[in-house]
Amino acid sequence: MRVLGIETSCDETGVAIYATDGGLLAHALYSQIELHARYGGVVPELASRDHIRKLLPLIQEVIDEAGVETNALDGVAYTAGPGLVGALLVGALTGRCLAWSWGVPAIAVHHMEGHLLAPMLEPDPPGFPFIALLVSGGHCLLVEVEGIGRYRVLGESIDDAVGEAFDKTAKLLGLPYPGGPALAQLARQGNPERFTFPRPMTDRPGLDFSFSGLKTFALNTWRESSQDDQDRADIARAFEEAVADTMAIKCRRAVRQTGNRQLVIAGGVGANQRLRERLGDLMQAEGGHIFYPRPEFCTDNGAMIAYAGHQRLQAGQSAPLSVSVTPRWSLEDLDPVENA
Ligand code: KG4
Ligand code: ZN
Repeated sequence: MRVLGIETSCDETGVAIYATDGGLLAHALYSQIELHARYGGVVPELASRDHIRKLLPLIQEVIDEAGVETNALDGVAYTAGPGLVGALLVGALTGRCLAWSWGVPAIAVHHMEGHLLAPMLEPDPPGFPFIALLVSGGHCLLVEVEGIGRYRVLGESIDDAVGEAFDKTAKLLGLPYPGGPALAQLARQGNPERFTFPRPMTDRPGLDFSFSGLKTFALNTWRESSQDDQDRADIARAFEEAVADTMAIKCRRAVRQTGNRQLVIAGGVGANQRLRERLGDLMQAEGGHIFYPRPEFCTDNGAMIAYAGHQRLQAGQSAPLSVSVTPRWSLEDLDPVENA
């Protein structure tokens, strides 16, 4: 079975083809970063319009790269949520219409399910069950994964998502959008001894997160500093260290609470090197294993949607002809895939 995957939930147009035999045949990504950079964040209406411009050419590019005819495609998967409603509609309508015109089934994919299954595209994937730490611009979740569609949310952020906290902290330090990678790069030059930021919500039981206080702490530290380049780098370092340490504390709790020693890290912030090191050390100490997608599949992409859709289509699931998107959508509301 060959499945075309389409991702348009935010500011990246991603397209890929995943096949039962052969795995990932082709993938392509167009990022709207330049379009939104001058506004310091994603402008939803501009995002939708740009997806309209880029999606069909990108689909053509991926079909050409995979060397398949359209009649060799057996299904279409599109991200139906969570995300920006206009952006989602572009991918959902295009995907649904293409599937209808090709006479194949379509499937609506949950964006975060895409992220959490992304490590399955790597040579040494985890087996079920595992724990997933999903860290993106819109979400911060710890999930117990029994199988595809069988998810239990163990903890989540009660305010900002972790990527959002990276982006806002980067912005207050005067770094360009999107701030996460820029802050991470700057943190390498920072002195880890200079500032110690709080580890939010680690002094009480539970697996929820909170990041808005950390952002305020960074703001106050910045205001009280002389605001030179070294201050900027030292604050970036302290912020990154506090996030990585907080994640490690919560993941250790989740591992011990569930007795599950396989940890998946996925979502854009999963590309963060310091977080990977810190969680890698943790899992080694716990006698467990850690799994990541390659960095380009940590951030939004079409490959993870093609893969998730492929698993669901292969199990006989499909979306009706009417098109709907779900901008707010809990992972716990998904249909399970039997035997997965
Ligand atoms: O998964 P993603 O591409 O989009 C959403 O689903 O939200 O995640 C984007 C987020 C942004 O907040 C971005 O700043 C952050 O991931 N990010 C990083 C890094 N690379 C991307 N944050 C910290 N360090 C990085 N290396
Ligand atoms: Zn994402």
